[in-house]
Amino acid sequence: MRRNRGSEGIRRMVRENAIEPQHLILPLFVEENLDARTPIKSMPGVYRETEKSIVDIVKQADAAKLGAVMLFGVSHHKDHTGSDSMRAGGLLDRMIKRVKDACPDTVVIADACFCEYTDHGHCGPLTKDGRVDNDATIENIGKQAVIAARAGADIIAPSGMMDGQVASIRNALDDQGFIDTPIMAYAAKYASCFYGPFREAAGCSLNKGDRKTYQMDPANGDEALREVALDIAEGADMVMVKPGLPYLDVLYRVKETFGLPTFAYNISGEYAMLKFAAEAGALDYEKAAMEMMMCFRRAGADGILTYAALDVARQLNK
Ligand code: PBG
Ligand code: ZN
Repeated sequence: MRRNRGSEGIRRMVRENAIEPQHLILPLFVEENLDARTPIKSMPGVYRETEKSIVDIVKQADAAKLGAVMLFGVSHHKDHTGSDSMRAGGLLDRMIKRVKDACPDTVVIADACFCEYTDHGHCGPLTKDGRVDNDATIENIGKQAVIAARAGADIIAPSGMMDGQVASIRNALDDQGFIDTPIMAYAAKYASCFYGPFREAAGCSLNKGDRKTYQMDPANGDEALREVALDIAEGADMVMVKPGLPYLDVLYRVKETFGLPTFAYNISGEYAMLKFAAEAGALDYEKAAMEMMMCFRRAGADGILTYAALDVARQLNK
């Protein structure tokens, strides 16, 4: 076997997978009423951007030829339903318009969910007994998706794991004439503790409870295929598995079974693990990030959502 590994030239010739900047999607946080971009402590190198500074970083993403950016709002107008995200002039509407005005060719993915806009932190309004009201949420998510599409979002990515959310968004978009706007479904999203840093970043920690009644149980693999099948039947154009690293088996099965454009979300906790290990001198951040991205590709990912997108793309573009 070693003859095929004998030199960099030969290794390159027989290499099975490649990673390019267009395979990388950069998630970004935009906070309203913020004077200056603010570092997120649990995610070294990641910031909450202001409604102005977001333009600079999207321009960098554009210059690095990333596949897309994904926008998350950090709201100062939270209420029980997350109504700010369903109104023209709200943060969701403004941040998408701002980015599309400055960089019309950049693919903007709107994360469609309510947890960044609700005062209790759950992904939809609660019933009297404190559970997320699935049917009220999917009614609302259609409205949110239309606000995002009207603002110029190129892709809508529902992340709340509500039953029927993809169909509801597809109907709402079609109804308003957005028949060509694709849906990237967070189809298999697990109730993971690796989301910890994101909840600090997006200011959406839960007041009480957890998301186990709507996000998947980490013990389950077959169930992911049923989730993905339903989302495809409801109209998903692309699917995502989340988290990434501990779920490569799920990613592989989803890609093998359905063959749709399939994305992995290399989430906040995975990024934090690399950064803090590197800070402690345990590993080389740049090399580890590059290796990780290649492993996502090998497991079947068409693209990776990752906070390391710019760092990896800059190495690739060198
Ligand atoms: C909210 C949402 C979460 C992430 C993306 N969208 C958090 C959650 O479900 O608690 C996590 C992303 C990350 O950890 O990087 N629906
Ligand atoms: Zn949510």
